[in-house]
Amino acid sequence: MAHRILVVCLGNICRSPLAHGIFESILDDDFFVDSAGTGAYHIGNPPDSRSIAIAKKNGIDISHQKARQFKPSDFDHFDAIYVMDRQNLKDVNSLARNNQDYQKVQLLCDVEGLDGVDIPDPYYGGEQGFEAVFRLIHKACETLKKTF
Ligand code: 4NP
Repeated sequence: MAHRILVVCLGNICRSPLAHGIFESILDDDFFVDSAGTGAYHIGNPPDSRSIAIAKKNGIDISHQKARQFKPSDFDHFDAIYVMDRQNLKDVNSLARNNQDYQKVQLLCDVEGLDGVDIPDPYYGGEQGFEAVFRLIHKACETLKKTF
């Protein structure tokens, strides 16, 4: 397996399920992709219906995903960990056990053209928020793919 990629947000029901589905749709079988949340609120739940809908509108089925919580052993099982915002970065980095763990963690938008912006949490907003977040995550994933 060339690359094992983990994408992380807070709840693992809105943003990281989109990044998970998008990466799976644009990367080949040499890649293994998973997602997790720093929080425990939604463990076992499917993605938010608005994330399922915007993914479906773009030809990606994420309805089978189930939320789980990020755990320190994820540092052992993944080569790269992409987080959605600076709070996620802080939370994941706080679980790093050594410099090698720490080096694996990066903002998803820390790529050319996106300047390390946070992917806003769309949970409390409307459907337009999910459209905007989908486009931003898609752009970040496509840009990162060129670096793999
Ligand atoms: P996510 O969005 O981190 O993109 O999955 C959230 C979903 C739920 C909550 C927060 C963020 N929540 O507080 O329940």
